Amino acid sequence: MKVLAISGSPRKGKTTDRVIKEVLKGVACETEFIRLAPLEISPCTACLACLTDNVCKIKDDMRSLREKIIEADAFVIGAPNYFSMMNGITHNFLERLCQFRHQSCRMLAGKLGVVVSTGGIHPQIPGQQIERIFSYYQIDHVGTIEVQGAASCFTCGHGEECDVGAVQMMYGAGTKITEDIIPDLSKQVAKIVEAQELGKLLTKRLAQKTGAVADVA
Ligand SMILES: Cc1cc2nc3c(=O)[nH]c(=O)nc-3n(C[C@H](O)[C@H](O)[C@H](O)COP(=O)(O)O)c2cc1C
Repeated sequence: MKVLAISGSPRKGKTTDRVIKEVLKGVACETEFIRLAPLEISPCTACLACLTDNVCKIKDDMRSLREKIIEADAFVIGAPNYFSMMNGITHNFLERLCQFRHQSCRMLAGKLGVVVSTGGIHPQIPGQQIERIFSYYQIDHVGTIEVQGAASCFTCGHGEECDVGAVQMMYGAGTKITEDIIPDLSKQVAKIVEAQELGKLLTKRLAQKTGAVADVA
């Protein structure tokens, strides 16, 4: 059994990466964590060259992920909210899974999927979109965790006076940025527990799939 965890956040070690890693703490089988940001993964070009053999012909880093995707029994996929959508890096990756779907080819069908959804104000949005894409690929959705992360506006240096930034959107004009108002996973203990529980649930579901007994608390 193998769980492939994919983070679409360009910010290494920030909320999306951290929540995914908390989910993986609850997973009792082999896992691999991959960040998409250092990889070159372009969007689907609708060339249909994958139509006959279910192999995408675009020469980029999706090629090195292809076998890992096929071999995985489950995915943990995380994305941040950018402008009320999942961010582009994650979307490119999910588009390119289209190669597995042509001609009724169900290469991803029945694999399990957990979603990690983050956002500065609306953390639920990317998760809803990923869940919908899971259904196109017939990935069996196990659960979603939504976590508030810190928008860059808290640290960009202009957060207090910027009237289009997240600080004023969340707290209003005149707000001083202090440590206690900056969202951080460490302040959301219930979310850390929820993430690990989701990992355990994924382990149980994987065990049920194979008929093995889940050895998790
Ligand atoms: C370009 C950009 C657009 C964003 N748009 C939104 C948004 O529309 N809604 C929201 O809730 N958060 C938005 N955010 C905030 C991020 O979702 C938030 O900082 C999240 O924690 C990022 O994930 P990370 O911590 O893993 O990098 C935006 C961030 C960036 C960089």
